[in-house]
Amino acid sequence: MSVHIKSAEELEKMRVSGRLAAEVLRMIAPYVKPGVTTGELDRICHDYIVNEQGAYPSPLNYHGFPKSVCTTVNHQVCHGIPGDRELRDGDILNIDITVNKDGWHGDTSKMFYVGEPSKKARKASEVAHESMVRGIEQVRPGATLGDIGHAIQTYAESQHCSVVREYCGHGIGQGFHEEPQVMHYGRPGEGLTLEPGMVFTIEPMINAGKRHVKLLKDGWTVVTKDHSPSAQWEHTLVVTEDGYEVLTQLPGDPL
Ligand code: MF3
Ligand code: CO
Ligand code: CO
Repeated sequence: MSVHIKSAEELEKMRVSGRLAAEVLRMIAPYVKPGVTTGELDRICHDYIVNEQGAYPSPLNYHGFPKSVCTTVNHQVCHGIPGDRELRDGDILNIDITVNKDGWHGDTSKMFYVGEPSKKARKASEVAHESMVRGIEQVRPGATLGDIGHAIQTYAESQHCSVVREYCGHGIGQGFHEEPQVMHYGRPGEGLTLEPGMVFTIEPMINAGKRHVKLLKDGWTVVTKDHSPSAQWEHTLVVTEDGYEVLTQLPGDPL
């Protein structure tokens, strides 16, 4: 397994990409309202990334993905394709933004509520967020990927939610998906030992029901088998000498 350690100069570029990805999430927030279609949200993000940021939306044409962002609703788990679905009161939505600026990727996603979500949907989102935070808090030199996965899994399961196994966090840099794979479950002390300069995402997908998922016939959209609500939050971070730096957190914003 070869995990690229980023140099100080490379990290400077990744800070830019990370900030731009986060700024897209901030820009799109006011547009997430009942009646807007996921396709309209995609178009607004696309135009902002290309025209305002001078960047490229990494998902577009990635292994044939047809749009510029992922929009993932309710019992969908990840990789929802923007289209003519209108958002309705009570929907929960993940928007996943990855931008490529000057050859370097930044990847972040968050949940949005359209009006008032159901108790179960809100729970999935809150547990996914706290799971991500607990995973991030494990990151420091000498910790292992298993420590991250274990922190996420034990918290999610303590809240009677489940962790999707089929999709993981990932190294990121000049490649969208690099080594290592960052599992959102695991055992303390197992797996790769973290070193300063490693850059990867943590992006747990948490279901309010059972963990099992299936892929829809569109070849992209992943849904929960039991149709329970699912939620995901994602940040890109770098291992520092004494902990971590989140590259996709804007100054003054919460994780
Ligand atoms: N941004 C997603 C991730 O967090 C990947 C999307 S790949 C796509 O890794 F092709 F579906 F866009
Ligand atoms: Co992403
Ligand atoms: Co990612």
